[in-house]
Amino acid sequence: TGKFFVGGNWKCNGTKDSIKKLVSDLNSATFEPDVDIVVAPPFVYLDLVKNTLTDRIEVSAQNSWVGKGGAFTGEISVEQLKDIGVQWVILGHSERRHIIGEKDEFIGKKAAYALSEGLKVIACIGELLEEREAGKTFDVCFQQLKAYADFVPSWDDIVIAYEPVWAIGTGKVASPEQAQEVHVALRDWLKKNVSAEVASKTRIIYGGSVNGGNSAELAKKEDIDGFLVGGASLKGPEFATIVNSVT
Ligand code: 13P
Repeated sequence: TGKFFVGGNWKCNGTKDSIKKLVSDLNSATFEPDVDIVVAPPFVYLDLVKNTLTDRIEVSAQNSWVGKGGAFTGEISVEQLKDIGVQWVILGHSERRHIIGEKDEFIGKKAAYALSEGLKVIACIGELLEEREAGKTFDVCFQQLKAYADFVPSWDDIVIAYEPVWAIGTGKVASPEQAQEVHVALRDWLKKNVSAEVASKTRIIYGGSVNGGNSAELAKKEDIDGFLVGGASLKGPEFATIVNSVT
């Protein structure tokens, strides 16, 4: 479904020095041509990365404000991101949902605003371990997906990232079968609730402990259209290995 997509979410990591090194490693890496590649540095390094990283790789923010900028201390507006050439934003990441406390509706509205201003959106969803164990994985994911569907004007510029919270930063990657099962269910939900066209066109990527050793097996699954990578995206050569696991 669509072009393979690999995002690197650098989260709240790095210094000017380590980020310059990572950019230089990415600039000299060899990537398969038929893959969309995006990296998401912390806000304070976005301009540096945008100005020094090869155009082969697009740049994403990790969050954006829900509306037009103004008196919102500590927030960054979509207009400001556009102003420095950022093309993407990650929204609804589990760390923002569960540590910062962002709610479905707020996230859906952020996605709608970012899209309306011309940013592309990596829309994250995913269940907690206790939700999986209680058999609620699909319910939780559908509810989070619905909150995007309720607000977004179009799905043309959205990539869905399924990131089970129990797999993030834990080293416990979902098995290819576990990820595939959820991706199929999400596509089915889109078909029933949005349209068959959106269901077949929208890329659904997997995130949670993806690394250079497990990406190739995951990438073989029909409904895994790419990855959102955390820890392993901080190492240029390993990130390149993951990008190049496209099948
Ligand atoms: P890890 O790859 O470090 O598990 O993080 C995944 C993630 O949250 C990407 O957004």
